[in-house]
Amino acid sequence: MKILVTGGAGFIGGNFVHHMVNKYPEYEIVNLDLLTYCGNLETLKPVEDKPNYKFVKGDIADKEFIMDLFEKEKFDVVVNFAAESHVDRSIENPDIFVHSNVLGTVTLLNACRKFGIKRYHQVSTDEVYGDLPLDRPDLFFTEETPIHTSSPYSSSKASADLYVMAYYRTFGVPVTISRCSNNYGPYHFPEKLIPLIISRALADQELPVYGKGENVRDWLYVTDHCKAIDLIIHKGRVGEVYNVGGHNEKTNLEVVKTILKALDKPESLIKFVTDRPGHDMRYAIDPTKLETELGWEPEYTFETGIKKTIEWYLENKEWWQNILSGEYQNYFSNMYGKRLENTEQ
Ligand code: NAD
Ligand code: DAU
Repeated sequence: MKILVTGGAGFIGGNFVHHMVNKYPEYEIVNLDLLTYCGNLETLKPVEDKPNYKFVKGDIADKEFIMDLFEKEKFDVVVNFAAESHVDRSIENPDIFVHSNVLGTVTLLNACRKFGIKRYHQVSTDEVYGDLPLDRPDLFFTEETPIHTSSPYSSSKASADLYVMAYYRTFGVPVTISRCSNNYGPYHFPEKLIPLIISRALADQELPVYGKGENVRDWLYVTDHCKAIDLIIHKGRVGEVYNVGGHNEKTNLEVVKTILKALDKPESLIKFVTDRPGHDMRYAIDPTKLETELGWEPEYTFETGIKKTIEWYLENKEWWQNILSGEYQNYFSNMYGKRLENTEQ
């Protein structure tokens, strides 16, 4: 079995490559990544010399390159992680999200249609469902929840999902989609909440919390997401969507305070800053379909997962300090300069 993993130099794709290369020595895993600002080959160091692993650099939206690659490699399965993934960046510059997330997905689907594959799997997000109100804890996203997006990022991901389902219905491409809640764990780029807070708290720097910090996210340890995708590509039904989440809802403030406590740092580092425009209030996944149909269950709770994550960041400082010392510094001052001056409280 030859599997194309796109975006495998990113956070979740990288963890998925590790999982697949180690679990299935008889499979060939080809990792295709453009190595954008968050693609990092250091993440692949533990597997780069394995005989069943290969890296290819390229853009999933480059039609000629993708067609040539598919013709040459004859993939059985495609798992598409490649995307622009940060909501704040999509607010600053939506265009690149259309290129990679929409055009990139359609380009891969065209190649799958032309060359034939056993399965195309789209790694989507719970953000396509929009958000839930804070005062209705009884509500959860199911696979039937209508698509209702808020940000340019979630709109590009929803658009990609619609193309995936159209290629299934119109052309019979054998597809599946997973929609997961917020991931955290090793190799998470430090622009996202959890690694940003860990890295800045360790340096005793101010911790920007948007608005009042009351927004709720449903956190899943990244390897539990990887195992869900492994199950879906092997046993999931073609044409189906599977929600992935482990019922670990926390407010952002709870997450930040948990990290500060674990690192023995003071809460006075917290700075409430100008909110994200269009900020979704609450995400919460109902994973019943994945659990009952495919027998998935998460290994980690938020408490065990966050402990493991903090340990990883303490033991792998070189991985994230290399990132912080580069172009990231410009990103941080552009994105947070004004915000940190205009605090909310
Ligand atoms: P990430 O930003 O860490 O990694 C994305 C990777 O895609 C990078 O390695 C980047 O170089 C690569 N890439 C970007 N554009 C590309 C292109 N045009 N061609 C080839 N490679 C390209 O993202 P992540 O957090 O690992 O997310 C991976 C996927 O999972 C995304 O599709 C995202 O929408 C989805 N997702 C993420 C989360 C989360 O909490 N992070 C949750 C649910 C779903
Ligand atoms: O739900 C799945 C989604 O989770 C994925 O599809 C996205 O790719 C992924 O980035 C993530 O999106 P979020 O916007 O929820 O993640 P982020 O880490 O950017 O923010 C988490 C919450 O923390 C959110 O409510 C905004 C808030 N936040 C974030 C940052 C970066 C802050 O308060 N301060 C910050 O500095």
